[in-house]
Amino acid sequence: MYRKTYALINNDILEENVKNIKKKYNDYKYYIGVVKNNAYNHGIHIIPSLIKGGINYLAVSSLDEALEIRKYYLDIPILILEPIDIENVDIACKNDITISVDNLDYVKELVTKKYKKELKIHMIIDSGMNRLGFQNKDDINESYKLINESDNMFLEGLFTHFATSGFMDSYYDRALNKTYELISDLDLSKIPIIHFARSLTLIRHDKCKYTTGIRLGILMYGYNSIIKYSTSLKDYLRCKKRENYLKKNHISPTYLDNDLNVKPAFSLYSKVISIREVKKGEIVGYDANYIAKDDMLVATIPIGYADGVNRNFGNVAINKKKYPILNDCMDMIMVEIDNTVKINDEVEIFGNIISQEEVCKNLGTNAYHLYSFISNRVVRVHIENNEKSEIKY
Ligand SMILES: Cc1ncc(COP(=O)(O)O)c(C=O)c1O
Repeated sequence: MYRKTYALINNDILEENVKNIKKKYNDYKYYIGVVKNNAYNHGIHIIPSLIKGGINYLAVSSLDEALEIRKYYLDIPILILEPIDIENVDIACKNDITISVDNLDYVKELVTKKYKKELKIHMIIDSGMNRLGFQNKDDINESYKLINESDNMFLEGLFTHFATSGFMDSYYDRALNKTYELISDLDLSKIPIIHFARSLTLIRHDKCKYTTGIRLGILMYGYNSIIKYSTSLKDYLRCKKRENYLKKNHISPTYLDNDLNVKPAFSLYSKVISIREVKKGEIVGYDANYIAKDDMLVATIPIGYADGVNRNFGNVAINKKKYPILNDCMDMIMVEIDNTVKINDEVEIFGNIISQEEVCKNLGTNAYHLYSFISNRVVRVHIENNEKSEIKY
């Protein structure tokens, strides 16, 4: 790495997160780590730490992602969460990659083909999100029968994905009951991996019936969405309003708070490459987006919107002190500093002093989006067993 802009990914924290999740939610056999989009942009070489923590299945969104992981990790089962083109199923099968099916026509075509190895399949059930999945009970029953009758396919799993898992959420119960109804004719004892819950379902709701697995995404990466009420009158009223809503609508228990210990493992750094004095009335950066209100000192940092960082992030931290971002370019941001800052000082974009929550709040977004913004141009430095290694993805 010659440009000192990097994401620091603490694999040890991720291992600990998985261990803590498993300790608290210990009633499952399959802990499926969702590692799509280069492991939520942490980099796929977090996988050994996830496995050490207790992840025993991986999930990705495409065959390309699955094959990239298979190059390095031969033994761990991998599920593709979206249906793939039927002409590529052979490639998945050859590489021990599990596919997902979501409609009867696809299954009918699948069973006409011969595969050299047993093809592992998970069925997707649409619980109301209207994105993917079977919507019709007859199609589910017929697909189940077709797959079970085929001699080189194995219906290993069945899953749904919940659109909500919220705060005053009447959709969740409907989605769950719809799923139960759609699968009610199947002999579920023949399907080893039944997985409905994603991270927020897990922390907000009771365990879903029949499930033997969970899919862990953002929670495993350290984002625990806790909502706590303060003792203020405003919060008391909000809390009462919610309780009454849940009661009136017969909504099943929803937990806003929990004692699960997970921590973010992703922090982002760069360094100061230039410092200049700017006089009152002068501009900083493109388009006169910023005009100096007074004489000031400005530092230039080599990280820009091509790396996923822009002026809306708000602040950076240098030597543990926060400084405001004034303007951005494709490759750099400019920051107002004071005379304690020196060339080559390390700059934290987020991590310890600037929390991910603070950045998400400034951007009006959440951790899923924040991680996705950080581009692959940013080198990932992984910490594992307290040792650092640099990886360019
Ligand atoms: C089908 C499916 N399962 C699981 C996940 C993981 O969700 P989360 O990060 O909320 O756990 C996703 C994420 O988008 C998904 O699409």
